[in-house]
Amino acid sequence: MGLDGLALRRRAFMAGTLSSIGLGATSVARARPGVENHTLTVAPADIELAPGIMRRVLAYNGQVPGPTLRLREGVPVDIMVRNRSASPELVHWHGLHIPPFPDGAEEEGSGVIRPGETLRYSFTPNPSGTRWYHTHTMAMMDFSRALYGGLFGFLIVEPTRDPGRYDREELLAVHHWDASLAHTSSSPELCAMLRYGFATFNGQLMSAAEPIRVRKGERVLFRFLNASATETVSLSLSGHRFTVVALDGNPVATPHFVSILTLGVAERVDAIVEMDQPGQWVLGPVDPALRAAGLGRVVEYADIPRGAPVWRQPERDDWDYGLFGGTAQTSARTIRYDGIFPMLFERHIDAQGMERWTINGKSGSELPPLSVRKGGRYLFRWMNLSGCAHPLHLHRHNFTLLARSQRRIGAIVKDTVQIGRFDTIEASFIADNPGDTLFHCHHQLHMDYDFMQMIRYS
Ligand code: C2O
Ligand code: CU
Repeated sequence: MGLDGLALRRRAFMAGTLSSIGLGATSVARARPGVENHTLTVAPADIELAPGIMRRVLAYNGQVPGPTLRLREGVPVDIMVRNRSASPELVHWHGLHIPPFPDGAEEEGSGVIRPGETLRYSFTPNPSGTRWYHTHTMAMMDFSRALYGGLFGFLIVEPTRDPGRYDREELLAVHHWDASLAHTSSSPELCAMLRYGFATFNGQLMSAAEPIRVRKGERVLFRFLNASATETVSLSLSGHRFTVVALDGNPVATPHFVSILTLGVAERVDAIVEMDQPGQWVLGPVDPALRAAGLGRVVEYADIPRGAPVWRQPERDDWDYGLFGGTAQTSARTIRYDGIFPMLFERHIDAQGMERWTINGKSGSELPPLSVRKGGRYLFRWMNLSGCAHPLHLHRHNFTLLARSQRRIGAIVKDTVQIGRFDTIEASFIADNPGDTLFHCHHQLHMDYDFMQMIRYS
């Protein structure tokens, strides 16, 4: 059963999952009673970043981001995904606790959609919150593929009871365009870096997008998603502060004011802004080069005289996960774990000068899976021995941050966390969703080069 040279699978998990290919690749489109239906089509589309700046990328339903899917917690859905592209595709529903087959990771044995075929993803969405969906293909050195292109969108799981105390929401997904390799380095202090031509919220440069129009006194919930393939972003709304209410869609223990939000790849931040400073302001990245690359939105109050939107550089970087977790437990000793997993991340340079990643000295393809049993509680001890940050992601489960940089922090529930260069994180998780589970770095250039490990239920 060849894939006709359309290399899709990561080298890592060649064995064992081939049998899944084509399993669900049928086009039984009949609606099932009591089940919500959605359809996504993967096809090339011409996306206009600004007048005269067109990019041809793979997109869902001809738009970037793809349509926002609003699902209801606990209400089953069938999502038909048609693949009108020239290569196999999978859609991953990032942050949902669903079975491996619809999860959309080949390593977990998920269904693969061959060109011309349709796959039905059936699952019951949970937990509620800001999730997202995206392609789970690999790009290697082809920077037009995978998450370098346009295959991502918001997926909001509406809670059965909405606790939201806000007047309306704005969804903003960050993406970077026109990637090329800036440099690789053999120095252990550095990692390979990409250069990008443009950066956008929702596929549009600030100069081309309509302002976000607000009224004094309004409370606006911003849902930010970093859908970049590789880049971390720090954002600020001039003249205002954000109250962070959820991280990766999960409500935080102690909502807190900050002037800067930092999102590693795949992270989400929900933050409420009280609109109390009439004017015309720039909501944008603190990095001026990124603002020049187009990332940002004008926030414009009603009934004010028109002028030039104002950017104000925040005085200091106040972003810190630790702010939102409540009181830290003084000791982890009181908790009994069914297993502790130390994981050491290292960077290597191969004979071709390419960067490779290992966990505890082994590449993804050589690593045995971590073994868990249903209902068990486990502790990850992540140690980053490389000179760049990594957005670490666990499929199909949440984890709870307990410590960072050897300092205990209050519990924060996430599915992706940015580990700093030469830094450490401790996070616990409960094995409550049986089935093969992928752990990986969400930086596309790292995941494609082996930064991953499987977790298997015994
Ligand atoms: Cu957001 Cu393995 O993915
Ligand atoms: Cu990484």
